[in-house]
Amino acid sequence: MEKLFYPITQRRLRADTHIRELTASVKLSHKSFIQPLFVDEAINESRVVNGLKDVEVDTSSTILNTIEKSIKTGATKFLLFPVPAKKKENNFDFSFATSVIRSIKENFGEAVWIASDLCLCSYTSHGHCGILNDDHSKLINHKTVDVLSKYATQLAIAGADCIAPSDMTDGRIAAIRTSLDALGYDTISIMSYSAKFSSQFYGPFRDACHSAPNTNGLKNRKTYQLSPLNINDAIASSLRDEKEGADILMVKPSALYMDVIAKLKQHTLKPIAAYHVSGEYAAIEALAEKGLVNREAAHLEVWTALTRAGADIIISYAAKNAKEWIDKMGY
Ligand code: PBG
Repeated sequence: MEKLFYPITQRRLRADTHIRELTASVKLSHKSFIQPLFVDEAINESRVVNGLKDVEVDTSSTILNTIEKSIKTGATKFLLFPVPAKKKENNFDFSFATSVIRSIKENFGEAVWIASDLCLCSYTSHGHCGILNDDHSKLINHKTVDVLSKYATQLAIAGADCIAPSDMTDGRIAAIRTSLDALGYDTISIMSYSAKFSSQFYGPFRDACHSAPNTNGLKNRKTYQLSPLNINDAIASSLRDEKEGADILMVKPSALYMDVIAKLKQHTLKPIAAYHVSGEYAAIEALAEKGLVNREAAHLEVWTALTRAGADIIISYAAKNAKEWIDKMGY
């Protein structure tokens, strides 16, 4: 009989930093990170966001400084959230968003990659992600899709590198792809928020963008965002968006939905972006502030787990720290 050596040790691979580095099954790179940016037309000075340490809502001029600082840290890819001063129910004016993109591109050109979030929640007086019917009881799909595809072409004309629809209506990816291609913008990519759940964890973001639903009609986003109870819908919606022309699929929130990332990975060859959302980020910051976790190590642990689950791209409010933190990451 074969001689067995007891104990069967696995601990040799954990013995020191060198061997832990050599045998790591996931490796992080700051090159996979996207930094969200907020820019608000209604403010004259940048302002802090409740709960989001080190994140500011910029004005159209301070945003250039924010981007310059980020580039110095190695963060060159951004997800832009423009917040217009005026809220309406329809006939929206997208000129603030387009002017911001134009000025970013004039200043930084190809040194930066700008994905523009595409949604109406910061434009609408009721805070929903699309056009509602008269008594605000329903979101009207086709009207919303029409407005979004016009908005998308304006963002592309202004110089956006990628369009990131976060509204969760049906058919928007095909409509946006068709409108972009018709104008010759066939190289502008689409990053679809394809698995975006109705979540409690968007709180700090909604504060930053003044985009919480506020109407006596539809009280929440459950009729268009995914139910946390239904992973099959998340996979089906993502594969539907892939068929319609999405280049990158997204899971959001991410740390609480790693099962969705892992499952989606088995069904697609498209890159998957994991959005570590505002509430998830703020939870770590709140623990760190109380001295209950090490801030950097906690973010790194989440990023590692997201990568292990199958994320190719990470959207994090700490993307600007990724290079520094990963470089000195001790494992
Ligand atoms: C807009 C949108 C939201 C987020 C990104 N795009 C909020 C929402 O759906 O209410 C959340 C991002 C975050 O919390 O960091 N549709």
